[in-house]
Amino acid sequence: EKGGYDYFMLKEIAEQPKAVADTLLGRIDPAGSLTLDEVRIPDSVLREIDKIVVIACGTAFHAGMIAKLAIEHWTRIPCETELASEFRYRDPILDARTLVIAISQSGETMDTLMALRHAREQGAKVLAVCNTNGSTIPRESDAVLYTHAGPEVAVASTKAFLTQLIACYLVALYLAQVRGSKWGDEVRDVVRELSAVADRVERVLETMEPVRELARSLADKNTVLFLGRHVGYPVALEGALKLKELAYMHAEGFAAGELKHGPIALIEKDLPVVVVVPSPRGRSVLHDKIVSNIQEIRARGARTIVIAEEGDEAVVPYADHLIRIPATPTLLQPLVSTVPLQVFACELATARGNEVDQPRNLAKSVTVE
Ligand code: M6R
Repeated sequence: EKGGYDYFMLKEIAEQPKAVADTLLGRIDPAGSLTLDEVRIPDSVLREIDKIVVIACGTAFHAGMIAKLAIEHWTRIPCETELASEFRYRDPILDARTLVIAISQSGETMDTLMALRHAREQGAKVLAVCNTNGSTIPRESDAVLYTHAGPEVAVASTKAFLTQLIACYLVALYLAQVRGSKWGDEVRDVVRELSAVADRVERVLETMEPVRELARSLADKNTVLFLGRHVGYPVALEGALKLKELAYMHAEGFAAGELKHGPIALIEKDLPVVVVVPSPRGRSVLHDKIVSNIQEIRARGARTIVIAEEGDEAVVPYADHLIRIPATPTLLQPLVSTVPLQVFACELATARGNEVDQPRNLAKSVTVE
């Protein structure tokens, strides 16, 4: 069943290029237009949407944070992303022109289900992004865009996350197509780039041995910090979540710009800090600011583990460990930058003798509130 791998998680990490390709399959025509037939919300309704709310839990929430950046950038529709468990109980403002996107691998997460029920009661339209055919969340939604990751068995979500990102990009790009976007050329380029992503994920997977080695060398550490900015911030949170649930280590993700507002006090000699560096070709301001952050923490003794694009030479002098990822458009970068963090957490869990597929205290689907 595990296809020769020791753990389902390893198998599922390796399946990511296929999961990504399968989720894109049939949804982009050769001319570069998107066809999301399953989204049965008529284009006329989508044109009237004036607000989007993304709700999800855990890893799916991190996909939702990235979705917000993509949706707002390409469509200019205000979008907020909220933990389903928080959203439900704070009397959110919703109406018939609100589109709620509920992201869930299992389709059974109770917090997400309760949130979507509440949204529908207020008259909002709900689109589910889900990996499990016929599960409760898509059944109770107005429409569903399935991710085609195949069954995910390991408790730690990996391939589902990448496909959730793909689905969210497709929704954002589809909305841009239906409504028009001030970034028309960029939208067309990104649609093209999406078809190259599966190969890039494959390339990342082929270069993971140094990451595994690094993880093993950190097995006796107590804390690992993760820093990111823009799309790199949810990736940092995801890296930290993986490490908590698998390695049972204290792991925290921060927005790099927040360092000086508190977290920098945590930096001490030999503390491993993973930094997700934005593309130098995209928003170069963000890139340069992160490079200064790396300098700052290294000057205070941190052991810097830097995830940066191939060709980004500015980071080299400050990286104790450098993990390269293929150059990818800024908003799509999480598809490649998350993968080393999954491998890192999986290997650390193994090195610490933990049960990788079934971490303590956790269940694959959380069907209680
Ligand atoms: O099935 P869902 O996507 O709704 O699950 C949401 C979270 O429970 C899930 O992502 C959880 O955080 C994973 N164990 C993370 O690896």
